[in-house]
Amino acid sequence: MQDFLIHPNLNINDKGHLTVSGQDCADLAAQYGTPLYLLDEQLVRANCRAYVQTVKECFPEGSMPLLASKALSFTGIYKIAASEGMGTDLVSSGELFTAKKAGFPLEKAFFHGNNKTDFDIAFAMDCGVGYFIVDNCHELNAVNREAESRGIKQKILLRLTPGIDPHTHKAITTGTVDSKFGSVIENGQAEVIALQALAMNGIDLRGFHCHVGSQVFDIDPFVQAGEIMLRFIKEMQTKHGYVTEFCNLGGGFGARYLPCHPTPDYAAYIRAMAAEIKKICDALMMPCPKILLEPGRSIVAAAGTTLYTAGSVKHTPNGKTYVSVDGGMPDNPRYALYEAPYTVVNASRADKATDCLCSVVGRCCESGDILQENLRMASAERGDIIAVLTTGAYNYSMASNYNRLPRPALVILNGNENRIGVRRETFEDLVACDAD
Ligand code: LLP
Repeated sequence: MQDFLIHPNLNINDKGHLTVSGQDCADLAAQYGTPLYLLDEQLVRANCRAYVQTVKECFPEGSMPLLASKALSFTGIYKIAASEGMGTDLVSSGELFTAKKAGFPLEKAFFHGNNKTDFDIAFAMDCGVGYFIVDNCHELNAVNREAESRGIKQKILLRLTPGIDPHTHKAITTGTVDSKFGSVIENGQAEVIALQALAMNGIDLRGFHCHVGSQVFDIDPFVQAGEIMLRFIKEMQTKHGYVTEFCNLGGGFGARYLPCHPTPDYAAYIRAMAAEIKKICDALMMPCPKILLEPGRSIVAAAGTTLYTAGSVKHTPNGKTYVSVDGGMPDNPRYALYEAPYTVVNASRADKATDCLCSVVGRCCESGDILQENLRMASAERGDIIAVLTTGAYNYSMASNYNRLPRPALVILNGNENRIGVRRETFEDLVACDAD
């Protein structure tokens, strides 16, 4: 058994090739070219269902998981999420436009972002976005102004900062008091902004939001943040008679990138979290508000695989081996940004011993263009298909055209069928916005 088979949809066929959802990676590479993003629709749907059903079973009616668009945004993912009954969280007008284009029911959309421009605010109201998640008092004033000028009351949640550190990578920790996001609960700023919102003609305050961080495998930070939020909600009721409809606890459950990571059971996490939330509400003698969650990575990460073709395989005088592939930091900047771990497989020789210690590097003119350092895989030769696993979240969505590399295609696998989700960019696409 090869320990790189870290997701249930991975296997090895009788040619010794890696398969995803039963489909041969070498065949997919031959059909669509490389680099190539794969997304297993069945796995995405299974994750959506785990969230939708468990949230329904454990929290009051009206509670809902929202797909965090930032993890993966293209029209196809909104169609899948909508058909599974998910809402969505959007952080830009571009994500909003994409969701709208896909026919996503925008009354279930929550518009995030710590600096919505006047254009964003007007555009989101034009599109009929259900809820704004307002970050700070400046934004609150701007949303109120626009709503008043339209003679509407815009439904909003306020983003609060509960002051929790989930001990994940510092770049993806967001809930601490010095964060750029949200209004701080502990110094009274949150209460002030909530009272301002309640007094505004253009604002219909429906609840509060927080997000502690990302790639977290433990429910404790969520429960701690939940407790701080619920205490605040209780205080708003006792002091000001305000009854909160929604408490949004954000996203953040982790994905399995390496064989040594746990195999997450999202339904079990939600059940355990719900039991703790219920205890807190009971102790505070208040009914549980509707709960919103914003999973991104946990919905799409494991469903994604990126295929590359190996080029040069180079041995340095000090014994390092570099396997260069035909993509790199433009399609996956996560190692360069966060030293993010990934499991890498020689998909053409998946049945062979993983006895080659090497670094898999990209094709950009930059030594930081590394996909993964010092990993073990079966020795590669030029032309082998190399698979990087667990790339469904924050890969396509963070991709760039650095070195004018066209962005890869994204192919959706559904059982033994496949279809283009996003076509490969062409050279003409690269110059499409350039002036003559
Ligand atoms: N909600 C809010 C308000 C967020 O800020 C985030 C992620 C999420 C939900 C979704 O979190 P998830 O379930 O995906 O962990 N680019 C980084 C991740 C940045 C996450 C930022 N916020 C990465 O590649 O790891």
